[in-house]
Amino acid sequence: MITATADFAPPAVRQTGILIGDKFQPAISGRTFSTVNPATEDVICEVAEGDAADIDLAVRAARQAFDSGPWSRMDARDRGRLLTKLADLIEANFDELAALETLDNGKPIGDSRAADLPLVIDCLRYYGGWADKIQGSTIPVRGNYFCYTRREPVGVCGQIIPWNFPMLMVAWKWGPALAAGNTIVMKPAEQTPLTCLRMAELALEAGFPPGVINVVPGYGPTAGAALVRHPMVDKIAFTGEGNTARIIMREAAETLKRITFELGGKSPNIVFADADLDAAVAGAEFGLFFNQGQCCCAGSRLFVEESVHDEFVAKVVARARERRVGNPFDRNTKQGPQVDQAQFEKIMNYIDRGRSEGASCVAGGNRVGSKGYFIEPTVFTGVTDQMDIARDEIFGPVMSILKFKSTDEVTLRANDTSYGLAAAVWTRDGAKAHALAHKLRAGTVWINCYDVFDAAAPFGGFKMSGLGRELGEAGLANYTELKTVTMALG
Ligand code: NAI
Ligand code: MG
Repeated sequence: MITATADFAPPAVRQTGILIGDKFQPAISGRTFSTVNPATEDVICEVAEGDAADIDLAVRAARQAFDSGPWSRMDARDRGRLLTKLADLIEANFDELAALETLDNGKPIGDSRAADLPLVIDCLRYYGGWADKIQGSTIPVRGNYFCYTRREPVGVCGQIIPWNFPMLMVAWKWGPALAAGNTIVMKPAEQTPLTCLRMAELALEAGFPPGVINVVPGYGPTAGAALVRHPMVDKIAFTGEGNTARIIMREAAETLKRITFELGGKSPNIVFADADLDAAVAGAEFGLFFNQGQCCCAGSRLFVEESVHDEFVAKVVARARERRVGNPFDRNTKQGPQVDQAQFEKIMNYIDRGRSEGASCVAGGNRVGSKGYFIEPTVFTGVTDQMDIARDEIFGPVMSILKFKSTDEVTLRANDTSYGLAAAVWTRDGAKAHALAHKLRAGTVWINCYDVFDAAAPFGGFKMSGLGRELGEAGLANYTELKTVTMALG
């Protein structure tokens, strides 16, 4: 099933060092780690492996740039222009960056080009437009005083990101942080450091002053943990697993850092009998299988109303079987490999568990080929609420279909989870859709669509799915401190 011909070629890797100030350099320890092509299991290249010593240098560079560098005196409008310039440079290097993302992550080139890159560029332009529109207000206090507020940057922001959307996570983190005037030390995921490093190179070319953006590739418990503990870091923004977030929250407590989290989910996707069934089937397929199922907001609990259940299952299974799994550099590939061996094994274990828990595997269920971390698009029916495959985040191409009878029943069941990232409702009854959207305990609710993202629309989780919001004005607010200034008038 792995196709032999490729329409696009992997690009040359240009940057593998640690960025501190305006220089890419080796790790102080001299160590490197391998980044792997998940489609072939071959090593792509070695990347400098930062640890606490490199993090310390990076944080000091960011501190200096924030406290006394040209960045601290720059007009907001010029900050905005730098973000726009970075977006333009990413657009100018579109082919290279899309191919690099596909090489390091394994996602189909069609997705890198149609989804990741356009969203990255749009996000940076959107926040470029915000830079000179971050305003305070004047407050009518009692007495003869002039009182106003300012929205100031938080300071040095440590940003720790995952591997599922490597470039997009950079854009979501850099955009609002830089628009608000912060400086950054970023630790990209160890599985996918390459596009972040290339973006950092382009940021220097755009003209960001030295130390505004620093990037330290490396592992979580070493480089990541050192960033969280560093006393000169004001804020940690993290995207990844809940268990890692718990560690970060405990460690950050020591220095009372500001924290924002974007964590996992087990999002309900609810299909009513009165929905446009073909649209719902297409939405269910996209909402679960997109990005090899490696989406924090994947519609991984698919609730289907009993009267249309069998028809829906037949259609969705046909679509799952048609999905083309294979070489991510082929333009017709719909599904590439999982990101690494650990994720591959985790998913295969959940497929075994689904079978042993008594669910029916009606499509897929196996590895594809013998090289690369490819898994068949898999569909389980007869899934019940207490099964592990209905409760845990699988983060792979595994669809779980659950049956329901009434709106009240499905509302309770949809909310019976510790997560609360996203949800979707499919129905032609607008009032029913909005009533349910208001009852669902989730940060995003899609109606008759799925995975519709926009830089202007806030995204984030209720309950254990997160803390704070990214994107939109809300995302920007999380990168500012509010200052109140009061002056006596005579
Ligand atoms: P992870 O949470 O361990 O990794 C995410 C980032 O955190 C990486 O940059 C990693 O190096 C860093 N990190 C790890 N341990 C750290 C520590 N002690 N201190 C500071 N930084 C640390 O996630 P992982 O292991 O890659 O994936 C495990 C599961 O997490 C996945 O199977 C999936 O269920 C979930 N996940 C959710 C994501 C989301 O978008 N919400 C993204 C990636 C994973
Ligand atoms: Mg981990």
